[in-house]
Amino acid sequence: MFTPELTAKLQKYSTPFYYYDLALLRQTLAALKSAASPHGYRVHYALKANFDARLLGIIREHGLGADCVSGNEVQKALDCGFPAGEIVFAGVGKSDPEIMLGLQNGIRCFNCESLQELEVIDGLAGQAGRTAPVALRINPDVDAHTHQYITTGREENKFGIYYSELAEMVAKVQQFPHLKLEGIHFHIGSQITDIAVFQRLSRRVNEIQRWFREREIALPLLNLGGGLGIDYQHPDARPVPDFAAYFNTFAEYLELPAGQEVHFELGRALVGQCGSLISRVLYIKQGRKTRFAILDAGMTELIRPALYQAHHQIDNLTSRDEALTYDVVGPVCETADFFAKGAMLPQTRRGDLIAVRSAGAYGAVMASRYNLRPEVGVVYSDDVG
Ligand code: LLP
Repeated sequence: MFTPELTAKLQKYSTPFYYYDLALLRQTLAALKSAASPHGYRVHYALKANFDARLLGIIREHGLGADCVSGNEVQKALDCGFPAGEIVFAGVGKSDPEIMLGLQNGIRCFNCESLQELEVIDGLAGQAGRTAPVALRINPDVDAHTHQYITTGREENKFGIYYSELAEMVAKVQQFPHLKLEGIHFHIGSQITDIAVFQRLSRRVNEIQRWFREREIALPLLNLGGGLGIDYQHPDARPVPDFAAYFNTFAEYLELPAGQEVHFELGRALVGQCGSLISRVLYIKQGRKTRFAILDAGMTELIRPALYQAHHQIDNLTSRDEALTYDVVGPVCETADFFAKGAMLPQTRRGDLIAVRSAGAYGAVMASRYNLRPEVGVVYSDDVG
């Protein structure tokens, strides 16, 4: 992806910055569409993965809806042209003003996670003279087999309501005058690479849907969340996730009532591979045991390695020399401030341009100003010429 021509063009920008390959984003969205459309599935893009307005514009052009987890995300989606009727709002801790914003704009659905939240939404909907469409987020106790910090569908996680509480919750929703039960929602975790996990989720969803069917409760909407992983090990060989395998698994295993709308909320799979963090080498330092390449980007720009011990491929874009081993670290005053330990890189020198790959999702959006670092820049492939 980073040809010598592109690297030469990137030299003129001051580092660090996020580089977004918009052609790859478009290719990914086209692949998503051709895999989801045959099944009639609707995909809401999870803004939390990356809320860059230019990316959002392209995502909207491809006809996706929006999945938001804050009032500001709802507002951003509206500002970027997502119709309110295609916005869903999730999150364990929605504040009153955030709920009001969703109500006043007439969003498609609130994905709710507790009894108290339902009560509050009902009260606010009453005040606003509206009926709030709600889906119950159910914790299905299915293990996503991913990093513990991004697993959400186990009984010990804070997310969703438990199967054992279902009867009480459903009875309550039906009593609240300003709520309309639209459906059920699941999201069991992120960066899921084992398709068998989605088979297990589908079977569990079938059991839960049966429970509703037995009670003659209609569910117009089924939302299966996001979570499809990307190939962090091979960003060049596998830049586009296998959307067909993902959707076909659900199509094969789910038993749907007639006419039910099926929604997904993908984030990482759509934007992960199109972004790279571009940085320059400030110093090479020979430690007692390790050789360090110290970059001008750090955990303040991309926190995933520090927070989840996540692997990101690192490319030296300017050196073709023989490979040596490096710990690739940032300038921040924290030992956790690293991108890779023991990485093999062509011999690296001060001034070399480095790309930290697969950083389009949960990269720029999780940046911080710690150490009073400047805000990270952005460069789009369409503008590089
Ligand atoms: N829906 C809900 C309710 C979610 O909580 C999430 C992600 C998604 C959809 C989108 O999931 P995706 O398709 O992107 O896997 N910062 C972490 C990931 C946190 C994911 C949070 N929830 C990371 O860098 O790996």
